Amino acid sequence: MTCRFSGCRPIICRFLAGDNCTVKCQVPKGLTDIIPNQYLKSEEERWRASETWTSTEAEIRSICKLFQFSEVRTPIFERTELFLRGIGEGTDIVSKEMYTFDDKAKRSMTLRPEGTAPALRAFIEGGFEQAGPLHKLFYIGPMFRYERPQAGRYRQHHQFGVEAIGPSVPEQDAEVIDLLYQLLSRLGIGELTVGINCLGNPKSRGIYRNELKQFLHPRLSRLSEDSQRRFEANPLRILDSKEPMDMECTKDAPSILDCLDAEDRDHFEILQQLLKDIGIPFTVQKRLVRGLDYYNGTVFEVTTSALGAQNSIGGGGRYDGLIRQLGGSDLAAMGFGVGIERLIQTLLKQNKGSKAENYLDLWLIPMGPKERQLGFQIIHKLRARGLPCGMDTTCRKLKKAMAYAHTLGAKRVAIIGENEVEKGAVRVKTMNTGVEETVLIEELG
Ligand code: HAM
Repeated sequence: MTCRFSGCRPIICRFLAGDNCTVKCQVPKGLTDIIPNQYLKSEEERWRASETWTSTEAEIRSICKLFQFSEVRTPIFERTELFLRGIGEGTDIVSKEMYTFDDKAKRSMTLRPEGTAPALRAFIEGGFEQAGPLHKLFYIGPMFRYERPQAGRYRQHHQFGVEAIGPSVPEQDAEVIDLLYQLLSRLGIGELTVGINCLGNPKSRGIYRNELKQFLHPRLSRLSEDSQRRFEANPLRILDSKEPMDMECTKDAPSILDCLDAEDRDHFEILQQLLKDIGIPFTVQKRLVRGLDYYNGTVFEVTTSALGAQNSIGGGGRYDGLIRQLGGSDLAAMGFGVGIERLIQTLLKQNKGSKAENYLDLWLIPMGPKERQLGFQIIHKLRARGLPCGMDTTCRKLKKAMAYAHTLGAKRVAIIGENEVEKGAVRVKTMNTGVEETVLIEELG
């Protein structure tokens, strides 16, 4: 049944607006459905195959187990205050991109735009700190940012993130970068650039900020509108603007690395040595500052040439001080976030993503009601033994049923007719070779 007014299938709106529904039941702009491979209409949509998402997430979970990071699942909305304090009011995320609403009790809530602040809120609220000096957490889930949608940039995207809380040593930074690098290598993603930088502590950053402002002041009128706006509140962000006019103006800007104190300099040098020791290629990018206010010390970003304008697969850094700012103890921490959409798109662009994985080992086609009854018992037993299988219950003709099995990507098909029921055996066809054989029902598997 379709809606009389807009022609949509009124699954929700029928309940909300009855026959007066005028709202088209379409996914909102900038959001996407992740759907089974068989429903995708073109090559360009392949990144939306849920099978690919499942296998990518399995790889993520496996690498987290290897590195001993444990999962934390936080709600998708939080009190707005958390993000104001956590991300910083001067950032684009807080000033322009948050999905904020009042709940029925008029409390301001926000759909999480990122995962670090919620993970830390859970850490502080749950008293995790009492459990020891080192905490390694990860999360996978949707994030919401009201951005201008384009390829690789969505209003709901998914992030895999890790947060290592406690140690402030460079080995912790290197471990976090290593985890991301190993994940990308395991997935077969290449053509990567790992950029690293050091933003120093608040004191040296303050000195640098003044130096940078002095440098930029005579060039202010030549900066983009966005950068002019950032000049007072967040001048460091001007450095990573992609606007050509900004890049031209800042190409000879002083480097933050010249303002670091001895401790930060040592930390950054040891980190570089550690990355060299384990063979992770990187470049020091003195303009890399990241878009969130909470970073200090190490920051890093992994980019790929496969993605076009939105070329950052993931990034992160050290955010010592944020936990205290959110009401917890003075603990050091380091983490990153990776966009899963961009991860999968890169995989596919580099042609390394296998075609969506095939989960269907055996597809039964019963030729009548009696055979269907037997087929039902067979798939029950096979599933109990762990074999992914299914049965065509649509009662259609054999030719059509075979074509459908093909669409599903079944590895093997077993046709159950009257003879088969009598003999206790079925004809099994292996789809990619066309080879057929008779198999006793109890030996199916
Ligand atoms: P972020 O750089 O804002 O960092 O986001 C991390 C990653 O999420 C980006 O590199 C990108 O791949 C993906 N991403 C962000 N926005 C979008 C979007 N609109 N559409 C598609 N993908 C997007 C953070 O969020 C920090 N919390 C990371 C972190 C964790 N730092 C320390 N711990």
